[in-house]
Amino acid sequence: MEEQGQSITVVPMQPCHIEELERLEKECFSTPWSFDALVSELSNPLAVFRVAEIGGRVAGYVGMQHIVDEGYICNIAVFPQFRRLGVATRLMETLDEYAKENDMASISLEVRESNVSAQQFYDKFDFEVVGHRKNFYSNPTEDALIMTKTYGGIFS
Ligand SMILES: CC(C)(COP(=O)(O)OP(=O)(O)OC[C@H]1O[C@@H](n2cnc3c(N)ncnc32)[C@H](O)[C@@H]1OP(=O)(O)O)[C@@H](O)C(=O)NCCC(=O)NCCS
Repeated sequence: MEEQGQSITVVPMQPCHIEELERLEKECFSTPWSFDALVSELSNPLAVFRVAEIGGRVAGYVGMQHIVDEGYICNIAVFPQFRRLGVATRLMETLDEYAKENDMASISLEVRESNVSAQQFYDKFDFEVVGHRKNFYSNPTEDALIMTKTYGGIFS
């Protein structure tokens, strides 16, 4: 595979990424984030959005909201041709470093019950299932698992 062996660079989300991220959202999700929703995160002081690039191309991204000492991952996605190369791992490592540097207590997320591959990915990063949200997703309707990873945190 052409992408194999090329290094992965992680940078803060910038205006030049938005078009590709809109395309990534449409490719990965049945209710994708819009161009405008992504743009609004560029000026959101709570947003921690990071983009992984391979050979100058957008390979994937992660978006997190940081509120007090808690993080909430809104989305993580990697283009199919860049999967299983460690791209999401690099993105999650970036959030791990951010969480430790900012004395965060936890990071949480929701994931579709049927999305076993994403659950296996989160499991590898020590996220644990802490609850369910009934009919959280639409198109198709499905329950969400709530998964959380805890850190030391300044208040613990
Ligand atoms: C989930 C996703 C982000 C993983 O991205 P990725 O860059 O391929 O992940 P990595 O290469 O860093 O994988 C790290 C580990 O996660 C696990 N993993 C990743 N994809 C997996 C899959 N399809 N099946 C099983 N385990 C998987 C494996 O343990 C993997 O390690 P390994 O490759 O050494 O076995 C990607 O599959 C994706 O974009 N999916 C569609 C969008 C999505 O569902 N996002 C989550 C919404 S909650």
